[in-house]
Amino acid sequence: MDYKDLKIPNHVGIIMDGNGRWAKERGMSRSKGHEAGFENLKKLSEYIYSKGVKVLSIYAFSTENFKRSKQEVDFLMNLFENKFKEYSNRLKEKNVKIVFSGKKEAPLPNGVIRIMNEIEEDTKDRTDGILNICINYGGHLEIVEATKKISALVRDGKLSLDDITEENFYHYLFQDLPPIDFLIRTSGEIRISNFMLYQLSYAEMYFPKIYFPAFDEDCFDEAILAYNKRDRRFGGIKDENTNH
Ligand code: FPP
Repeated sequence: MDYKDLKIPNHVGIIMDGNGRWAKERGMSRSKGHEAGFENLKKLSEYIYSKGVKVLSIYAFSTENFKRSKQEVDFLMNLFENKFKEYSNRLKEKNVKIVFSGKKEAPLPNGVIRIMNEIEEDTKDRTDGILNICINYGGHLEIVEATKKISALVRDGKLSLDDITEENFYHYLFQDLPPIDFLIRTSGEIRISNFMLYQLSYAEMYFPKIYFPAFDEDCFDEAILAYNKRDRRFGGIKDENTNH
């Protein structure tokens, strides 16, 4: 689809939900669903950057996801450890830097943490876009961690209370990214599930009833058309002459 006359969101968030149900409907294991989700992510993210989106944040694994069966957690961790390096190399063509949000510590396996650090180092000089991958991530956790960083700076006399603002609070989050303009959660669930709570304050939200492995380029085009119909007022009113 031609995006020429369309508003393009600067920062898109995607909650990639429904891998398990997609697989179940096809008589396949949940692991196959995650594999298909990952294959879709590779194609879809390249398409999204090619349309002018600068920042893409994806929910890959929440702190709560560690409650899933050991088999499923191990599968996802191995998928990351074995496949993400290649994906990050592929994004070189789009000059996209990869960053991670979340706590880089146990219960994440050491091998996963090592790959995360390597990917960040390998991609840090890329300047055309950012892929923010949320792993071992929680939105409350992110705000609490930011509060701790700020408190320590204030305690040590390096930051004064008056210097803490809504704008510069972003600087203390896991990554200093712009606010999210457009959030997509696939699978039809209408929840945020602790995803990027600070960054989502004025995001437009879209909840297609399609499982993530099936959310392809055409589905993204449809999402962008829906985004273009939204009237973003950021708490203001559209027409100052409106009669009350
Ligand atoms: C949600 O679907 C999806 C996840 C918890 C994992 C998303 C991960 C990928 C797309 C692969 C790339 C990321 C890593 C870490 C390798 P679900 O399993 O909750 O689906 P369901 O709601 O149908 O059960």
